[in-house]
Amino acid sequence: AQAKITVIGSLNIDMVTETDVMPQQGETLIGNAFSSFTGGKGANQAVACARLGAAVTMIGCVGEDAMAQQLRDALGAENIDMTYVKTVPYKATGIAAITVTEGDNRIIVIPGANHCLLPEDVLALKEVIAASDMVMLQHEIPLETVEASIKLAHSLGIPVILNPAPAVRLPEQLLAQLHLITPNESELAIVTGLERKNTPESLLEQYPNPIVMTAGSSGAYYKGANGELGHIPGYKVEVVDTTGAGDTFNGALAVKLSEGASLQEAAQFAVAASALSVTKLGAQSGMPLRHAVEAFIKQSN
Ligand code: RIB
Ligand code: NA
Repeated sequence: AQAKITVIGSLNIDMVTETDVMPQQGETLIGNAFSSFTGGKGANQAVACARLGAAVTMIGCVGEDAMAQQLRDALGAENIDMTYVKTVPYKATGIAAITVTEGDNRIIVIPGANHCLLPEDVLALKEVIAASDMVMLQHEIPLETVEASIKLAHSLGIPVILNPAPAVRLPEQLLAQLHLITPNESELAIVTGLERKNTPESLLEQYPNPIVMTAGSSGAYYKGANGELGHIPGYKVEVVDTTGAGDTFNGALAVKLSEGASLQEAAQFAVAASALSVTKLGAQSGMPLRHAVEAFIKQSN
């Protein structure tokens, strides 16, 4: 059956400048190009899930401006249910100022309306959460809302994937209520306080709950509910823009797990999907359709 996924998170407009080198402090330089894209970790994960075949509902906030309409149109065109995306009067839609150089990006997010998504907004949507196979969360909405969402979903028996980006330290009881957390290595250190100088495997061993740790071009490391460890190596692809690679990964993981795949299968699918996503500029532009991921995995074997 088609997976039903609810994403509770941010919607941004990404303002992307491309440059050969990053400016130094106090320096002005002439860059190569500017583009604007729909983005935000929540919206990106919603788009990733929709392209990979899930029925997706988005919960979030946009402002009262033209960027909000751009997001509604783009996500609507992906068949994402936008009924529970609120327009906040007199607020600006969230934006991300992104600078892309070869193989590197730097991002500043101004949350704007995203910070108006409150715990009560989510608590009022108990039926929507209860009807989901999976709930996805990230950290571009208020922390209280993330916490309230995890508790609500947990109380309803709905599995939650938390992509803890940007990372903050999280209480152990909250982490224990997650189906899965999906940090990269530096985020894991911040979330848990674990030392970064450990090997990926020993980091995972120290973390008490199921986890998938992304490792960029090295793929992903995982630990399942029975403590089983695994590593999915990365694929060699031509990197244009890694923005949104993590979001593609999370979306792919959620879709596969919702469909009943094993953690190993889901992680494999997610590594492949995110590899394809980095070959285009923009977070959502390179997010693959399902058949493309399946063909890519087959062809790479
Ligand atoms: O994860 C990538 C996203 O982070 C971008 O789309 C940008 O909006 C920031 O939120
Ligand atoms: Na991309």
